[in-house]
Amino acid sequence: MVHAVVLGAAGGIGQPVSLLLKTNPLITKLSLFDIVNTPGVAADLSHISTPAKVAGYLPPDDGLKKALEGAEIVVIPAGVPRKPGMTRDDLFKINAGIVRDLATAIATTAPNAFVLVISNPVNSTVPIVAEVFKKHNVYNPKRIFGVTTLDVVRASTFLAEVNGDVSAAPNVTVPVLGGHSGVTILPILSQAKPSLSANLAQTDVEALTKRIQFGGDEVVKAKDGAGSATLSMAYAGAEFASKILNAVKGSGEEIVTQTYISLEADPEGAKKVTEEIGTSLEYFSVSVKLGPNGVEKILPIGDLNDFEKGLLKAAIPELQDNIAKGCNFITAPK
Ligand code: NAI
Repeated sequence: MVHAVVLGAAGGIGQPVSLLLKTNPLITKLSLFDIVNTPGVAADLSHISTPAKVAGYLPPDDGLKKALEGAEIVVIPAGVPRKPGMTRDDLFKINAGIVRDLATAIATTAPNAFVLVISNPVNSTVPIVAEVFKKHNVYNPKRIFGVTTLDVVRASTFLAEVNGDVSAAPNVTVPVLGGHSGVTILPILSQAKPSLSANLAQTDVEALTKRIQFGGDEVVKAKDGAGSATLSMAYAGAEFASKILNAVKGSGEEIVTQTYISLEADPEGAKKVTEEIGTSLEYFSVSVKLGPNGVEKILPIGDLNDFEKGLLKAAIPELQDNIAKGCNFITAPK
């Protein structure tokens, strides 16, 4: 019996992610909240013959609170997406307030839910959620996640393409660490499995790295003003949600993935990662082992080659800025 909630459920990501969650047999109740159109989306999805009972909510009559009552997992794709020429940070002005208000509702109605933040800029919106939870004395860093799975999904696909066999993509893994915007996205191609072809020149590795870091721009450009990745993001979001749900169920298999979290989620594991980064950062996308309570263990970054060490160095100042911006949005006196 799992109650899942999508906040921003009528949007470009919200609708397909709600569809994919409706097809997850572990979910028995699916509540959809948005400022528009959720009754229609919910009615549509409710005809699908899978277990989840679907309901749509709008802001009047305490709709947000009603949607969140008893929630165990909350997925947040609410907010505006990028247009050509925009960075994810450009979205901060609008999305920070939206995420703060939704986080406040979760903290007061479903404080123990797993919170999966998709709304950009993820590097700042995750600290916003965390600071709101701290304010309400319900903060548990093991249960708040920035969804960076799309970067991981892109890395598998693009590497399989470079290797000349797209059909192998499901079996290609590349840890993608750091953050979720441009140069803060750190694909660790030296740890790819299967490993990179020895024939690949360093210039190819650099081009592949850049493509993973800026893959979102390809979609923004192709959509030409109509938004950013929605369908691939919905796939990635549903995959991540499914990992959390399987970990909660305790399927026995080890579930390891990358996600942008507070390193406070596992102080012991964080010590090693901080040593590896060489600077103390409060938030970072790391490889984690998931368990019934969320983050069970933060895993070490492992060996990086010189090129990857350079990427890490370049990511740190932007990450520091993004994190401070998110935290200050909640904690700085107005
Ligand atoms: P969209 O504009 O199609 O949908 C956003 C939805 O949020 C709309 O239905 C809107 O009504 C709703 N919304 C706005 N304010 C709200 C509020 N206060 N409460 C509830 N719902 C509210 O945008 P799209 O394409 O679905 O993108 C959503 C977010 O996801 C953007 O911030 C985008 O940058 C981000 N994104 C994140 C990715 C990631 O890898 N983490 C990848 C792609 C997009």
